[in-house]
Amino acid sequence: ERGGYPHFMLKEIHEQPRAVQETLAGRISEMEGDVRLDLGLNQWEIQTLQRVSILACGTSYHAGLLARYFFPRTAGLPVDVEVASEFQHMQLRPGTLLVAISQSGETADTLMALKKAKTCGVKSLAITNVVGSSITEIVDATIYTRCGPEIGVAATKTFVGQLVALFLLGIRLGRARNHLLPEQGRRLLGELSRLPGLIQAVLERRDQIREIAQRFSGADIYFFIGRDILYPIALEGALKMKEIAYIPAEGYPAGELKHGPLALITEGTPVVAFATCGEKIYSNMKEVRARGGEVIAFAAEGDREAAEITDTVVELPNTLPVFSAVLCTVGAQLLAYYTAQILGRDIDKPRNLAKSVTVE
Ligand code: F6R
Repeated sequence: ERGGYPHFMLKEIHEQPRAVQETLAGRISEMEGDVRLDLGLNQWEIQTLQRVSILACGTSYHAGLLARYFFPRTAGLPVDVEVASEFQHMQLRPGTLLVAISQSGETADTLMALKKAKTCGVKSLAITNVVGSSITEIVDATIYTRCGPEIGVAATKTFVGQLVALFLLGIRLGRARNHLLPEQGRRLLGELSRLPGLIQAVLERRDQIREIAQRFSGADIYFFIGRDILYPIALEGALKMKEIAYIPAEGYPAGELKHGPLALITEGTPVVAFATCGEKIYSNMKEVRARGGEVIAFAAEGDREAAEITDTVVELPNTLPVFSAVLCTVGAQLLAYYTAQILGRDIDKPRNLAKSVTVE
């Protein structure tokens, strides 16, 4: 049932090229540079949207954070993202599209927040992996991620499916609002279609990533840093390390390190730097080195600057920075997985956790 893999998590990590193909299947319209998705909104409603508000928990919340960077660029729409259990009585004004993200579609915190938010009378959309799950009954429309069942408690392929669903949504909103030209839509979608192959190339770096995991498996803390669209991936990388390897891990916006956490960096502290989105992170990587920390960089193929700062560079295939978020994610998943395996953790059923959290 695990298809020859020792754990469901590793199997599901390897299913990601296929999962992304499924999330994209039949939804790309090459000619118009547009996306086919039913959002439960008419053209006028899309054009007059003022903002998008996203509710989710855990890994799904990290997917939501990525939309906060993407939607303003593609669709000119500001995005609020809130952890569902912290949703208070935020006044949602007309013109807001409410998006709830939940792999299982059964997370109590997300369902309760969504019900509360809906009392403001706004339109709502769910992004979920489970057909007919409770969340789909509450919303006006659903985007399915179509990743197939996920058994491992740690979300992997469904997170990547959520990112891809959000990319599609951002492009659809952008095209419908004339914020993106057909040309720009085509460019983004062309690159998005290459993702399955690019993910496969990252999977092929598994031996190198396993060696890195081995080298740092005795660490008492891990840091993950990223900027812009890669900041949510830093949070997600740290979450994976905590939940399956039980190593304390902090995800930080790279520029924030010097505002406090740098005090925790000592000789040999591993700092994973996602370096595929802009030059600014190089100075943060140097700050780490100067304190004796070890930088593990995920950087684009041929990135000489990253290679000058650290010997530990995992090269990722070139793509647009926004889509490199998916490639960095896959690298972080493998790093957490191998660390947990080396430490003998119960990877598919980490202590104290359940696949779907149906209590508030
Ligand atoms: C972490 C993880 C959890 C879930 C969270 C929300 O790997 O899986 O953080 O993301 O419990 O679950 P869903 O997406 O089902 O609402």
